[in-house]
Amino acid sequence: MGTARVVFDRWDGRYAERMRDVRSSAVRDLFGAASRADVVSFSGGMPDVSRVPTEAVMEAMAQTARDFGTTALQYGSSEGRVELRGIVVEMMAEIGVRVRVDDLVITQGAQQALDLLGKILIDPGDTIITEGPTYLGALQAFSAYQPRVVTIPMDDEGMRIDALEAELVRLGPRGAKFIYTIPNFQNPAGVTLSPERRRRLIELAREYDVPVIEDDPYGRLRFEGGHAKPLRALDEDVIYLGTFSKVFAPGLRLGWVAAPRPILGKLLLAKQAADLCGSAFAQIAAERYFTGTRWRRVVQDLTGVYAGRRDAMLDALGEHFPGEARWTRPEGGFFVWAEMPAFLDLKSLLAEAVEHGVTYVPGDAFFPDGTGRNCMRLAFCYAEPDRIREGIARLAEVLEDRLELYRAFVDAGVVPGGPTAVGSERG
Ligand SMILES: Cc1ncc(COP(=O)(O)O)c(C=O)c1O
Repeated sequence: MGTARVVFDRWDGRYAERMRDVRSSAVRDLFGAASRADVVSFSGGMPDVSRVPTEAVMEAMAQTARDFGTTALQYGSSEGRVELRGIVVEMMAEIGVRVRVDDLVITQGAQQALDLLGKILIDPGDTIITEGPTYLGALQAFSAYQPRVVTIPMDDEGMRIDALEAELVRLGPRGAKFIYTIPNFQNPAGVTLSPERRRRLIELAREYDVPVIEDDPYGRLRFEGGHAKPLRALDEDVIYLGTFSKVFAPGLRLGWVAAPRPILGKLLLAKQAADLCGSAFAQIAAERYFTGTRWRRVVQDLTGVYAGRRDAMLDALGEHFPGEARWTRPEGGFFVWAEMPAFLDLKSLLAEAVEHGVTYVPGDAFFPDGTGRNCMRLAFCYAEPDRIREGIARLAEVLEDRLELYRAFVDAGVVPGGPTAVGSERG
């Protein structure tokens, strides 16, 4: 008889209550398997930094050390360097958002902004609204502040505004602390909020007096279709999160928040408590890198590369995936969301997939309540097209094995056929 191994944590009973619901990141947990050479990883949303020219980075770093040495090695201001905020002002203007340097705080990636916003806005038991599925790093950051998370389903045009409205009616004015949304090439669903829905979302947020947090790491990585105005361009009260991670490098840990001044004031207090200030070295290096036009060519190149990988993934899905599968068709960004019949548990299938040399992130990581196990996020950003095709073929084999059983059940009338939510069309 086997004995279950009980892991005794002698610190139990000493942790703060707020850590109770914080789960480990499924993506971080897969890091080991995902970095094995024989495994095709569709799990991490890692930008292909090998496309960023080494000379450009070396030049920026050398200039930082040589010309800004004492400043770069010193503590800096908590809101971040005004020069870098000036660059952000210009970048935001290009996507239709007018902000001034005083409307911005530089953060350690958008991830820190999520944590700080949770810290200043959420009391235990507060309701917050997110898309379902949503970015697991946001769920992780917010969960430490113990909110009740209400998720709004999506379809191919992004968050379903009819469902959002129904929730807002149910919760009443100021019934939620905020609405958190990723309008462009959503992580993990890959879908984009249509312009009409953006307008309507802002109307509803105003009507029900609920702040909106717009997280936009992928907006510049559009492969096709027209640019849709950010929510922040429609309403100055929207709290906008940007990042240099996907257009330059996540290793610098640089992002920003544009928000109404009172929010920024509180955010700065929280940031001072968290880290006093961001790295001056990283900020100056980014300023050097983003001076001139080379960075634009790099973003253009990256966009082309990711578009090719998206195409490879969509083609391979069409060729290899089982007839019961549905998936989304992203116009940019990093991710495809695939859905299998409700019966299939893709979380338990993951170990088998890793054995077959392929990883993905099971869908339940992107929901607060463990739903979504029949779904998976497939990141196409990192692997080369040939590897993507190979990985999808391997994954299809693993799925086919399981589906044989499912088909037998459907034939016997024991379970209904067909999938359910996002990615309603096949291919
Ligand atoms: C939707 C979303 N928000 C925030 C982040 C965090 O990015 P950063 O590297 O800027 O912390 C990510 C990273 O993958 C993301 O996908």
